[in-house]
Amino acid sequence: MNFKEAKNEILQTLGRTDPQDFAKIIDWLKNSDDLDDFLVDNQKAILISIAEDLRPCLPMEAVFPSETMAIQKTQQTSKPTVHVDAFLYDEETVDSLCEEGKMSRNYCLNCGSHRTAPLEFISHSFSVSELRFLFHHVLPELAGRLVVDVGSRLGSVLYGGYLYSAAAQLVGVEISEEFVKLQTMVVEKYGFSDRIQVIHADICSQAALVQNADVLIMNNVFEYFMEPKDQARAWHFISQTFLKKGALLVTVPSIQEALISLQPTNGVSAISHWLEEILLDYSAYLQNDADPDSLKQIHLYRVL
Ligand SMILES: C[S@@+](CC[C@H](N)C(=O)[O-])C[C@H]1O[C@@H](n2cnc3c(N)ncnc32)[C@H](O)[C@@H]1O
Repeated sequence: MNFKEAKNEILQTLGRTDPQDFAKIIDWLKNSDDLDDFLVDNQKAILISIAEDLRPCLPMEAVFPSETMAIQKTQQTSKPTVHVDAFLYDEETVDSLCEEGKMSRNYCLNCGSHRTAPLEFISHSFSVSELRFLFHHVLPELAGRLVVDVGSRLGSVLYGGYLYSAAAQLVGVEISEEFVKLQTMVVEKYGFSDRIQVIHADICSQAALVQNADVLIMNNVFEYFMEPKDQARAWHFISQTFLKKGALLVTVPSIQEALISLQPTNGVSAISHWLEEILLDYSAYLQNDADPDSLKQIHLYRVL
């Protein structure tokens, strides 16, 4: 049913409504939470449509052959691990692909036997439900604010921020040109360019942008893509540059976990002098389509 037809149906229904209930039904249409799902679903439908557009542009593991370090790191993990991008492939899509034999959640312990064990999945993007959690529950109202996504990859944070928040500007900085091209294609196709900008650069060359950001988002940015010494250098840059008092930093995993394997961290300011953690009440988030363990990886800090 298109807009005109839906509008006519609603007007006809209102015409048949008992006059004494007329005010009630109008009040319900204007104010009821019952309609929220339709609005949220519309944003989710756009994000799903973007994922559908992007899937054919990438290999199924959503990692380009040029990303040799990410590929090597996955091969070195103690349990067999595969890349499954949570923005491109939600649980339902993974289930359908498994049914079609195009993807597997398990690997064979003894080839040819029925003994199998679950594979570990690594995602390099937030899922749609994580994006909604991030913009509806973790972050405050963002009207007038500048949000910077460090390592914007497929652009999921930028599109999620565009649809789920009123942020004035969402800027993605991505070091891989192949991913910048994909984001640019989506921004143009969906008409997001009034609020989204994508920059092809190493974040360490973007001091002015980082200084001005009200919110900096860092979802597992460096670990799979840089040598430890370069990761330490990049964190040093962030800690010396992202200093606007009251600005917010979102990290996955916690900043302590991100830094622990990088000792010595070449002078990352003592975290307690730079940031305070804002503890999130994960239990207050009642949407049941998100994996609680993945939400708990999301941490929020305020610059002191
Ligand atoms: C795990 S992905 C994050 C994806 C996205 N922010 C999200 O949350 O869905 C990390 C991305 O950071 C990029 N990256 C790594 N080091 C970078 C750097 N120094 N400057 C800019 N981008 C970088 C990688 O190419 C990769 O695409």
